[in-house]
Amino acid sequence: MSSEPQFFDQPGGVVGKPLVRVEGREKVTGKAKYSAEFPLPGLTYGVLATSTIAKGKIQNIDTTAAAREPGVIAVLTHQNLPKLAKTPNDAAGKKDIGAPMGFLPMTSDEIFYSAQPVAMVVADTLDHAIHAATLVKVTYQAEKPIASFHDSRAELFNPAKVQDGKEDGHKRRGDAKSAFASAPIQLTATYTHPVYNHNPMEPGSTTAHWEAPDRLTVYESTQGVTRTQSSLVAMLGMPREQVRVITKYIGGGFGCKGSTWPHTILTIQAAKAVGRPVKLMLTRKQMFTSMGHREDQSQTVQLGATADGKLTALIHTKVSTTSPWDNYAESNSKIIDLLYATPTFEASYEMARANVMTSTFMRAPGEAPGSFALECSMDDLAARLGVDPIEIRLRNYADHDYSTGQPWSSKSLKQCYARGAELFGWSKRNPKAGATRDGRYLVGMGMASASYPVHNSQGSARARLYADGHAVVQSGATDLGTGTYTVMTQVAADSLGLPMDKVRFELGDTNLPTAPNSGGSVAAGTVSSSVYLAVQDVWQKLIKVAVADKKSPLYKAKPEDVTAEKGRLFLKKDASKGEAFGDLMKRAELTDVEGMAQGKYGPGYESGHSASPAGPGNNTESASAHSMHSFGAHFCEVRVDMDLGTVRVSKWVSVIGAGRILNSQTARSQIIGGAIFGIGSVLMEATERDANYSRYTNADLANYHVPVNADIPDMTVEFVEENDPYINAMGVKGIGEISMVGVAAAVANAVFHATGKRLRDLPLTPDKVM
Ligand code: MOS
Repeated sequence: MSSEPQFFDQPGGVVGKPLVRVEGREKVTGKAKYSAEFPLPGLTYGVLATSTIAKGKIQNIDTTAAAREPGVIAVLTHQNLPKLAKTPNDAAGKKDIGAPMGFLPMTSDEIFYSAQPVAMVVADTLDHAIHAATLVKVTYQAEKPIASFHDSRAELFNPAKVQDGKEDGHKRRGDAKSAFASAPIQLTATYTHPVYNHNPMEPGSTTAHWEAPDRLTVYESTQGVTRTQSSLVAMLGMPREQVRVITKYIGGGFGCKGSTWPHTILTIQAAKAVGRPVKLMLTRKQMFTSMGHREDQSQTVQLGATADGKLTALIHTKVSTTSPWDNYAESNSKIIDLLYATPTFEASYEMARANVMTSTFMRAPGEAPGSFALECSMDDLAARLGVDPIEIRLRNYADHDYSTGQPWSSKSLKQCYARGAELFGWSKRNPKAGATRDGRYLVGMGMASASYPVHNSQGSARARLYADGHAVVQSGATDLGTGTYTVMTQVAADSLGLPMDKVRFELGDTNLPTAPNSGGSVAAGTVSSSVYLAVQDVWQKLIKVAVADKKSPLYKAKPEDVTAEKGRLFLKKDASKGEAFGDLMKRAELTDVEGMAQGKYGPGYESGHSASPAGPGNNTESASAHSMHSFGAHFCEVRVDMDLGTVRVSKWVSVIGAGRILNSQTARSQIIGGAIFGIGSVLMEATERDANYSRYTNADLANYHVPVNADIPDMTVEFVEENDPYINAMGVKGIGEISMVGVAAAVANAVFHATGKRLRDLPLTPDKVM
């Protein structure tokens, strides 16, 4: 068993409490420094000029007019950009760099996608740089691009691996095709969705500062400083200790800041060329073509079931668009394979190359779209048999993980259904679709299951406890805005037995102990476990001092018989025998004691997407024997206006079982944020790419619609209490992504229940609803 920090649950503890963000004041007073807000001496401004075609070659690039403008320091193109030690342009380079995209712009005259960077102007002010960038004259030899897999010229292929080689392009468990063919109930349906872009409030930004030819500091808006450092080290051919990455605050990321994109290395090379720090911030428009997106895709689900609705076969095929160089497709099949008791399963991926940049992970990559297709199909099955949607899911409840054969480490899905139904008022649902009215509105109720894996990663942390009763705890983690600063301070405070205001938690710097990306929902579990274990190391060191100190009540006790709680060391068998750490440290003349939790450095460790259950705080043996997932259920009520085709979400309930919840307020905010993200994806979001030119027609937030307050009702969120001893030292599963899984289906199922119309092509805009 892993150590179980039960003392967190004792009275007076702060873990789990709905505390406000410790950095809230810094943020609202403007003191919090985001990556583009570091004023460096001699700072210059970089602005990208981008391609107006999506396929072809640069014939001529004339930078003379731009270079003549006042304040312009340099105009960089593929002809004069300083050479890199390694680029992702060849397969080996891409792998070493961990690059999301196998092509770096401004390394050749080739144009592969619309708005590809062709030049960077560096000037003394932002205005000068913006203006001069418009004067870069490029002539092209243009070819007709392919915009998506929908193009009749697109060639489909079945990749051996998808998602950066992490998932098989073809999976099979049992004989799903025969099982489907002989199933009494057979359902086949195809679901599509367009390109989605991440669009965090804070666009991507890089400030590159060469302090010396062998010393680079980069202020980067990234979800992982270590992973960014690794990419830069590989491309620059520099030792790790010469490249420092700092990210103190992030204004959202959703996956697009999970890897290193071209603008970052181009800015670093520009800074090298001009010999001054360069800052580049992507524009909102450039965000649609600079940091990946969720790929446009079509999914077909074939579902075979017995007459009473028990699944006998699931077959999933996905077709999607990928870039000229990479085989990236979110792995939708993972969740489809494991959510229900499915005796046979088959999944295959097809893709087509198009003139687009490489897509990337976006919040719940695979699970979000996969659950949309699966959970709508399950709703169809329920409707076909006249069975309640919750009942059909209970009939197919997976008592273990059918995709691996493993038992679950913990699973509270049944409680989530029951509690969600109760909070929502599911029993009032008229089983008949299209039969509930409220004035001019058709009213519908829908639900869906949610699940997301616990991608345990490895992390490190350092805790330094001072004799005067304060502490500094550090980990090179990041805070996307979701509350890392706050929850880690809570965990450290309780582990140390100190009040919150005596603990400072520092993050976001490669000079701190390495930590994984904030991605794959790993940060809360991994970093909190590292923090907890670093504090345990402090206690172990102090216990050694105590048992050797003649004046200590613990003198000559065996170290293993001593424990620490609430800042006091004492005998496990006799709590009255012990002393406070401050008394011991003062007597021993120790100003401070340092503890470390050391994660192993290596592949997978940084990505936040691969399970590395051998990390500190993970119970290796039992972890590898269990399938580790969070589960939940979303419930949605909609009001549909059939005259206008509008869908309004009028009620929302999410109930989630995700292990220990570190802060019930920031956790609630995460779930609400993910659910709103999902509501956006099902009702309004779509990146429109022109079929002829593969250019973007709505690359701004006026035309790329996201939900606003008026679109969202008061939302109810509850967490089921879960104590999972297998996942990590803190028993935390993570909630950043399960919040979004199943959301699109819950809304679409509610629209079906309201109207009797099954809509499978997202987003569900009025033209489709009417
Ligand atoms: Mo997230 S899509 O796991 O960065």
